[in-house]
Amino acid sequence: MDLPGERTVPFRAATLADPNRQPGEVEARGVTRQIGDRKLVDHVNVSVGRGEILAVTGASGAGKSSFLRLVNRLDEPTSGTIFIRGRDYRQMETPVLRRRVGMVMQSANLFPGTVRGNVSFGPAQRGDTLGDEVIEQLLEKVGLAGYVARDVNTLSGGEAQRVSFARTLANKPGILLLDEPTSALDEEASRAIEDLILKLTEEDQIACLMVTHNAPQAMRLAKRTMYMTSGKVVALGPTKEVLDAHNVV
Ligand SMILES: Nc1ncnc2c1ncn2[C@@H]1O[C@H](COP(=O)(O)OP(=O)(O)O)[C@@H](O)[C@H]1O
Ligand SMILES: [Mg+2]
Repeated sequence: MDLPGERTVPFRAATLADPNRQPGEVEARGVTRQIGDRKLVDHVNVSVGRGEILAVTGASGAGKSSFLRLVNRLDEPTSGTIFIRGRDYRQMETPVLRRRVGMVMQSANLFPGTVRGNVSFGPAQRGDTLGDEVIEQLLEKVGLAGYVARDVNTLSGGEAQRVSFARTLANKPGILLLDEPTSALDEEASRAIEDLILKLTEEDQIACLMVTHNAPQAMRLAKRTMYMTSGKVVALGPTKEVLDAHNVV
């Protein structure tokens, strides 16, 4: 039952029975992670298309990060699965999956050394050498032209976060998982990262799932928002409706 004054946003699960269902770039179907008798993520159904940003919000401990970690299989769902372009991700090799599904977290976690070393690390792991031209293109894309030889110790927080985007983009991901990517940054650096996220999703038609606590940020970036409580999706719909219904500020 609804409390007086509270609006419930209708939640339409993406099910096979739904005649309007569009296959997404990434689609969670009944994704659950149970530890003991506790469901950290509880039957999440959501689909995100190419070029779309979905904001994921909810109180601390709601299961947002736990959900993202299931999408690139850092953790294993105890039931349900994820489809990547219509293919069950359990049929994909993990290294292929991790390249397809890039992740950027709250802090950049760069390796000691140069920007070049960080951006070329992933490809080097599988025996590919990124040419300087490719590295320059990636750095230009994230607004760091000319930074290739910089020691990462000399970077600002915002610059370091751009390097972590460039490092992820070196794998040409179709899907980006962003876990509060601006929460450690000041307003100006946050806005610059927001612009970058908008540009990347648009230019490269990436499907993006972004955890944020910041309602104005969700409004700026995401047409749709998913609100989680106790591991469950309790609202999924137009960002403003979802945020207003759940008093997210
Ligand atoms: N590996 C784990 N084992 C047991 N509980 C966990 C584990 N990881 C997270 N949790 C718990 O799951 C809940 C959801 O955590 P999390 O996904 O980090 O929430 P959010 O990102 O929404 O703040 C929290 O109560 C957290 O303590
Ligand atoms: Mg979290």
